Amino acid sequence: LVQQTKDLPLKGKSVIITAGGTKERIDPVRFITNDSSGKMGYSLAKAARNLGAQVTLISTTNQLPIPFGVAFVPVQSAAEMEKAVFAKFNDSDIVIMAAAVSDYRPKTEAAYKIKKTNEDLTLILEKTTDILARLGKEKKHQFLIGFAAETNDVETYAKDKLARKNANMIVANDVSQANAGFNKDTNEVIIYQPQLDPIHISVRSKDAVAEEILHAAINTLNL
Ligand code: CTP
Ligand code: CA
Repeated sequence: LVQQTKDLPLKGKSVIITAGGTKERIDPVRFITNDSSGKMGYSLAKAARNLGAQVTLISTTNQLPIPFGVAFVPVQSAAEMEKAVFAKFNDSDIVIMAAAVSDYRPKTEAAYKIKKTNEDLTLILEKTTDILARLGKEKKHQFLIGFAAETNDVETYAKDKLARKNANMIVANDVSQANAGFNKDTNEVIIYQPQLDPIHISVRSKDAVAEEILHAAINTLNL
């Protein structure tokens, strides 16, 4: 039994993972999105499942196979993702915001396809909810893991996000690097946690990076 608990440190734990870039509708045939593939989130879902967790994967993509043994919740927009995350939040132990959530959405969604005219078109965007920051405000026992995709000043921005969002961990990557970030099969990250030294994970597959992230969390949680 001791051996079993050691192999499955997340047994009995409920883990929410978000993945992919959100899609913010302009009209019935157009949306705003970003370059996120969802791969890091899917790797985390598989790794958490393999460590014994009950995993809920909240995803915007249908381009990746749904990992076996994972509860799958398809969403599109930041607002749908927020709703799905908070529906499960009270019963969860770890939340991993691997999704690239749009910071802005069109203020209105046109009911019909927007027709072209001879004038310029101005699209007004409004802020979405910062899901991770709201989780940070409302958390009780939950361990919150966020990501920070940066092109410069990685450490400063990552530490700022850790504090500002009241997260327990920020996984930072430099998306200007060839082997890291959006739409790649590999990643290289630095894990920041309050009061702990940063952990540098050198370049490797996203599956292997996912295992390292979860091991860091398991370590900090003493599981
Ligand atoms: N995030 C979120 N809700 C948003 C925006 C971001 O939950 N509306 C989460 C992301 O899933 C990620 C973390 O916050 O885990 C950091 O996202 P990032 O885009 O790097 O940071 P922002 O706070 O949006 O700041 P900026 O884009 O200006 O760097
Ligand atoms: Ca952002």
